[in-house]
Amino acid sequence: MSMISYVNGQYLPEEQATVSVFDRGFLFADAVYEVTAIINGKLVDFEHHIARLQRSCHELQLALPYSSEEIKQIHTQLIERNNINEGLIYLQFTRGNAKQRNFLFPDKDIQPTLVLFAQKTNIVDNLKVKNGIRAVTVDDIRWARCDIKTVALLAASLAKEYAKQQGADDAIFVKDGIVTEGSSSNCFIVNQHGQLQTRGLSHEILPGITRKAVLSLAKEQGIAIIEKAFSLEEMLTAKEVFMTSATTLVCPVIKINHQKIGEGKPGNIAIRLREIYLENTK
Ligand code: PDD
Repeated sequence: MSMISYVNGQYLPEEQATVSVFDRGFLFADAVYEVTAIINGKLVDFEHHIARLQRSCHELQLALPYSSEEIKQIHTQLIERNNINEGLIYLQFTRGNAKQRNFLFPDKDIQPTLVLFAQKTNIVDNLKVKNGIRAVTVDDIRWARCDIKTVALLAASLAKEYAKQQGADDAIFVKDGIVTEGSSSNCFIVNQHGQLQTRGLSHEILPGITRKAVLSLAKEQGIAIIEKAFSLEEMLTAKEVFMTSATTLVCPVIKINHQKIGEGKPGNIAIRLREIYLENTK
């Protein structure tokens, strides 16, 4: 059965949920997005996703004419209309249809485009994630504002495709020998001192909502934390490596570039943080 999507005020079956070829999201990736997980029919960390959406818009001088409450309503409607217990809601907001191709922002105000759709996926019992994934590293060829969640995801798509061709599950970006983040996740290690280490926020990585939640849970658990960049070498020799994202939560990495991480199985800290995170979504 066709799922119901939302396009500029209307709830429509997939086949009718369309936007113009002149939409600036399509022509220039002039658009931002969010992916929010649904667990037990409930949105996870919604307020943080909205705050990041507002920040992304601000950075691109993109006015968002919807309140958090209105956007939450649309999410809730999509969960209900599509009867979703577990999955995700994708939201994309673009500068709109400028009726022509012109690099410059349109002079007069045009209606921006707001699109949301839902997808059913296994988040809690995702076996691939629970058993740990294999990753490969790739050069980080992305632009210099990775902190803005734009839809310009070609580099991530190429990286994931490369990983697949190498027989791996995902890719991790490395810039000048230093790990930036996963192709669609933030990267954590448990370093040689037993500290939980992740790169500090900057223009080079996305300020992940799951990253933030995991850091605060780890703090509550009394786990030592250090926000500092680490090298590829430090990652390969770490006790544990895991990735965080809305759709995989805490995802252990057991092999990188065919090299075992730790004992080659999900690490204790990753398993613990995943369990606590899930506990908190109840
Ligand atoms: N990606 N880094 C990048 C480059 C990402 O694309 C994502 C999320 C994250 C993790 O952010 P969060 O914890 O807020 O999901 C980090 C989403 C899930 C996606 O594009 O599907």
